[in-house]
Formats: sequence, C-alpha cells, structure tokens
Amino acid sequence: MADERIVLVTGGCGFIGTNFIRLIHDIQPHWRVINLDKLTYAGNLHNLRDIEEGENYRFVKGDICNEHLVEEIFAQEKIDTVVHFAAESHVDRSIYGPAEFIQTNIFGTFCLLEAARKTWLGDSWGGIDPIFLHVSTDEVYGSLGDTGLFSESTAYDPRSPYSASKASADHLVNAYFHTYQLPVVITNCSNNYGPYQFPEKLIPLVFHNCLKGKPLPVYGDGKNIRDWLYVMDHCEALLAVLQRGKTGNCYNIGGNNEKQNIEVVELICESLDEKLGLDSSGKPRSSLITYVTDRLGHDRRYAIDASKIGEQIGWQPRVSFEEGIEKTIEWYLANQDWVERVIDGSYTRYYQEMYGKRENIG
Ligand code: NAD
Ligand code: DAU
Repeated sequence: MADERIVLVTGGCGFIGTNFIRLIHDIQPHWRVINLDKLTYAGNLHNLRDIEEGENYRFVKGDICNEHLVEEIFAQEKIDTVVHFAAESHVDRSIYGPAEFIQTNIFGTFCLLEAARKTWLGDSWGGIDPIFLHVSTDEVYGSLGDTGLFSESTAYDPRSPYSASKASADHLVNAYFHTYQLPVVITNCSNNYGPYQFPEKLIPLVFHNCLKGKPLPVYGDGKNIRDWLYVMDHCEALLAVLQRGKTGNCYNIGGNNEKQNIEVVELICESLDEKLGLDSSGKPRSSLITYVTDRLGHDRRYAIDASKIGEQIGWQPRVSFEEGIEKTIEWYLANQDWVERVIDGSYTRYYQEMYGKRENIG
C-alpha cells in the first residue's frame, strides 16, 4: 500500500471517528483526511479543534445520504480510501425511532458505495489501489448463550432496528464486492469505550450520573454481557486492516474482555470512590445503582473470536480493561466542559422505563 492516502472519513466528529482521525494525525501525518459529518447530536466539531488548521485536514458538514455532495467530494479530492463510521449508533434510540437508522445506516452506505463504484471502477481512475473500509458491529450476529464466540462465519441474526440496519449495510458492502469487485473490507467490532464517547452509552453515562449524584440505571438483572475494547485499540486495528487487510474479507475485532454490565458499573463506582472519596452524602457511589425495566429485545451476551485479525494481520488489543477504565475516568474528569457542551441540556434519553416521559441527561 502506498505511503500517502486521501482518506474520506465519514462520521469523524463522533466517538470512534474522532479517535481515529487523531491517530492518523499522529502516525500518518502525510495522509490527507476529509471528514464528512452531518453533526447530529452525536457529532461535535470541537473534538478536532486542535488539528483542524492542518493543511492535510478538511471538514465538510454534510449528510452521507446526499449523493451529489458525496460524488463531488470523491471527484474534487480524488478520494482513494474510505473509512465509513457515520451512523446512528445507539440501540435504545433505534427502538423508539428507527427511521433515521434506516436512512443513514442503509441508504447512506449505499450512496458512499455508489460514489466509490463510479469513481474507482470507471476508466478514468488513475490513482493508487483504492479501499473502502466499512466499520460495523458484532451486533449483526445476534445474541449468544452462556458459551461460544462470534466468528467471521457466524450467521447474521440482527435483533434490534440498529443491528438490522448495520447488517443490511454489511450485505450491501459485500454485494458490491461480489457484483462489481469494489475493493471493500468490513470490520465487526465489540463495545468500545474511552474518550469522546457520548454520555448516552453505558460507561460514560455511569461516570456522568455518579458525578451528578443521579441514579445509575441498570437494565433487567444487570447480567447481560458485553466484550469491552478500548477505543484506541479499535482504531489501531482499523489502521492495520487498511494497510494489511485483504479485500472481500471481514475481520472481527474484540477485547477478549467479557464483563457483566453490573460488574462494569460497580468497577466505575469503586474507582470514583477511591479517586474522589465517598459522595456528598457519605455513601459509596454503588448506592446509586437502580435496576430498571429491561431494554426491549435486549441481547444477552456478545463475545468475539478475534483470532483471524490476530493471525492474518498481527493485531492484538494492548490496553487492559482496568487500565482503559482508569484512562477513561481521568479523561472525563479532566473534560467536564466537553460533557456539558455535548449534552447541552437538550438531549433526551429513551429507554423502556422512561419511554413516554422525558429525561434529559444533564
Ligand atoms: P457516534 O454516534 O458517536 O458517531 C456517529 C457520527 O456520525 C456522529 O459524528 C454523527 O454526527 C455522524 N453522522 C450520523 N449520521 C450522519 C449522516 N447521515 N451523515 C454524516 N454523518 C452522520 O458513533 P460511534 O460510536 O463513533 O460509532 C461509529 C461507527 O462504529 C458506527 O458505524 C457504529 O455502528 C460502529 N461501531 C460502534 C461501536 C461502539 O461501541 N461505539 C462498536 C462497533 C461498531
Ligand atoms: O457491540 C457493539 C455495539 O456496542 C455498537 O455497535 C453500538 O453502536 C454501541 O452503542 C454498543 O451497543 P450496546 O447496546 O451494547 O451499548 P450500550 O452502551 O447502550 O449498552 C451496553 C450494555 O449496558 C447493554 O447491555 C445495555 C446496558 N445498559 C445501557 C444503558 C445505556 C444499561 O444497563 N443501562 C443503561 O443506561
């Protein structure tokens, strides 16, 4: 692969996109990055304020569903690499309002594939070998029982509107490889955590509510299991796939780190008690834990077999969960202004217990 790339990153103002652009900025400074982001509630332009002056970076505010805009960017910038993060990403929101998930996650992916097909497979393409990296999720595989792992050959069985929309997008991406030989790769990753994650997701929501002395809502019996991965490990895996992945392949990415939700919540409470002392009422923060009505269709367990990316690409996660949680807590404590800015007092959480009522995070 060539040393220099012209990369269209979609959704670069979101959680993982921000961390990925920061990684490229640090270790591939000669790559040109065009960040196309609609700036939904989940996107925050300030995340990249310190790097936006660089001559190799351009931000475009826009929608991946705008076919003309996407084609114009491909043509103007001679895009040879796509890293496609843009999506509606929160499962609870997909349960109470799936339409945007269908539009962005499926139609938006289609618009990008079309632009790539027209640009790269036309006679006039004279650039380097292009690649389209579609960033997807382990949720496409459905839910596991007490044993077993998701591998790349596990049958798709999505069970929420979010995961069904991501699975549809994955199928489209694969179809463009088989039908047109568009050079694509797909990655299916487990739950990420780390800096810049919007505080609707479990880990940053728990930090936030602990600091505000608010209840920590744990769905159902709290024993659902997720495989947690530090976000920078994920970003390094994506870079490795861009550089060494084989087109037409998919790669599972995971942290080999299964935890019940309640274990995660308790660990955060303990860590904050240690760092900050007990809360103002003299109680441990675990006293804020509140069991609430379960998420509809809540997947019980996710766990990833990441041996393919390990053996074929040489990637392994580097950050242990304990270390990653410490780094993340430090980041959130040092960046309370970021949290206040992104939640803005106007974000409404939707989950089963609250549905029909309004609950602002802030
Ligand atoms: P996020 O919700 O934090 O960010 C999404 C970004 O996409 C935001 O900046 C938003 O403004 C932008 N966006 C949304 N709709 C858009 C549109 N129509 N046009 C342009 N931009 C738009 O999401 P995230 O957690 O960073 O996830 C990024 C990708 O990784 C998603 O595709 C998600 O499915 C996938 N993924 C996430 C995780 C995770 O744990 N967060 C795990 C595996 C895979
Ligand atoms: O597995 C990868 C997926 O991980 C990504 O594709 C999604 O974009 C990402 O949002 C994440 O999905 P989850 O639904 O697993 O993440 P969330 O943080 O919403 O929830 C994690 C677990 O915690 C899940 O079992 C639900 C539970 N939960 C969540 C919230 C927000 C609670 O118990 N209470 C809560 O308040």
